[in-house]
Amino acid sequence: ESTFIHRFEPASGAGSPPLLLLHGTGGDENDLLGLGQMISPGSALLSPRGRVLEHGMPRFFRRLAEGVFDEEDVRRRALELGEFITDARKQYGIAAPIAVGFSNGANIAAALLLLKPDALAGAILLRAMVPLSDPPKAELGGKPILLLSGQADPIVPASNSAHLAALLTQAGARVSHKVLPAGHQLSQADVTLARNWIGNVA
Ligand code: MLT
Repeated sequence: ESTFIHRFEPASGAGSPPLLLLHGTGGDENDLLGLGQMISPGSALLSPRGRVLEHGMPRFFRRLAEGVFDEEDVRRRALELGEFITDARKQYGIAAPIAVGFSNGANIAAALLLLKPDALAGAILLRAMVPLSDPPKAELGGKPILLLSGQADPIVPASNSAHLAALLTQAGARVSHKVLPAGHQLSQADVTLARNWIGNVA
């Protein structure tokens, strides 16, 4: 069962890559539509709602504590999201999307990149952490990934985001990792950097 409640906004400009928008804990399918429009005007936007509930808050996988993941669930849910993308691509006639994930949404995007690399054309990972302690050997074949971390993020230690960047680089992705003077929340710099990055890779 790979049905997700979601929003889809068709492309309004030719040549802009479709975006897969993945919200953070407690968000929903509406949260990142504005961000998507800001960083890539004209792109088709595919925005699912996470199917796991934590005290009523939607997420993309279960966790045991903040930053401690139920990795079996991470694997299962990432593959489920991969199936959703396959179905949505057929339904809406879109190319493989670039994921734009924030926090929990960035973590499931990182898991998907490691477990099912073909699902995504690339990714913007905002405040992501290492999603799996023992990931399979992935082949990311030069996929572009922008990883934006917060230097004062209380949830993601600097060593963790550096490890994620290394993991993705070793798997063959073209990773750009920037550490911003920010916490876990997004800042204007995230929007500006994401917009410039996507303009260069797309
Ligand atoms: C997670 O659970 O994915 C991370 O702790 C980020 C969060 O959702 O707060």
